[in-house]
Amino acid sequence: MKLIHIVGARPNFMKAAPLLRALAVYPHVQNLLVHTGQHYDENMSDVFFDDLHLPRPDINLGVGSGSHAEQTANVMLRFEPVLLEHKPDGVVVFGDVNSTIACALVAAKLHIPVVHVEAGVRSFDRMMPEEINRVLTDALADLCFTPSREANDNLRREGIAEEKIHFAGNVMVDALLEAAAIASQRESWTRWNLHPQGYAVTTLHRAANVDDPATLARLLSTLSILAIRIPIVFPIHPRTAKRLVESGIPTDAPGLILTEPLGYLDFLCLMSQAKLVLSDSGGIQSETSMLGVPCLTLRANTEWGVTLTEGTNILVGDDPERILAEADKILRGESRQGRRPEFWDGQAAQRIAKVLAKR
Ligand code: UD1
Repeated sequence: MKLIHIVGARPNFMKAAPLLRALAVYPHVQNLLVHTGQHYDENMSDVFFDDLHLPRPDINLGVGSGSHAEQTANVMLRFEPVLLEHKPDGVVVFGDVNSTIACALVAAKLHIPVVHVEAGVRSFDRMMPEEINRVLTDALADLCFTPSREANDNLRREGIAEEKIHFAGNVMVDALLEAAAIASQRESWTRWNLHPQGYAVTTLHRAANVDDPATLARLLSTLSILAIRIPIVFPIHPRTAKRLVESGIPTDAPGLILTEPLGYLDFLCLMSQAKLVLSDSGGIQSETSMLGVPCLTLRANTEWGVTLTEGTNILVGDDPERILAEADKILRGESRQGRRPEFWDGQAAQRIAKVLAKR
């Protein structure tokens, strides 16, 4: 059986790595890795292959950046000949990025089964490009592997047939548990003369937060106020860096430490000893819940509801008063402990591999 796995953007790499490892024990499964090239900077892509022991891609489509239509269309145009040449028995796509929907659509039209890993998660906000990618990918998928029971329910409500839905657990957690011991030796905080529990970490890259200069300025000024109380390490996503330069928003506040995007192990290490994390990322909500680190999610909604009910996540949106009030509570030691959601146990990739290898 031949499977083609698709990675394209930063949040795909830590999902593909555990699955490729889990599938390696089945000799009858041949795995090809295709990188669409959606992310291409050394620190947005290459470093993750080293940190996660991910094999180098067999094929790189080299699509790069563009508008949503350009990027999605370019992936489709360049992926179709790959499928025609290799004729795989299935295409495995991860998460919700543009590369995910683009490759799922090409495969479905060529009648090649689509496998969606991290299926069924929903923010119910169609203003998010990722929500459109999630809904459409699940509609096309022949197998939907979900990270939570809530995700199963979402798929059922959308009319996805029961036999396509498999509750597997969270593959990102597999990567985290595998890497945690090595990551903890990095002591990444020493690079800025910080100490465990003596700093916060922030990331921002969602279009809704960074593309509108007024919203971005409001978030930066809120972070600057908080940075007086606790130093904040802020690895800057290239999209955000571009917007900050374009809009001339000041970033030189005392305690606010801007740095380039970090690799998987350095970032995991930094997060694990943070007093709190403020972010608009999807994956970080899961990771902080697993690490037991308080997380303030700078969004109005989340597709990771289970991290609100069972984890350490709190939705705070972009209102400065709310953000600072919740951050203060955490700094005073009033944070929620949370518990590990069901099947977030490091075995998700093995569950998926078992189902795939049987077919
Ligand atoms: C994409 C995903 C998002 C995910 C994020 C993680 C979609 C719709 N969005 O958003 O869900 O959370 O990745 O990072 O797929 N750029 C570089 N170098 C790179 C990559 C991007 O400079 O290696 C810059 C370019 O200016 C580019 C911009 O970042 O135009 C945005 O990149 P893009 O891949 O379109 O979306 P992300 O914001 O990264």
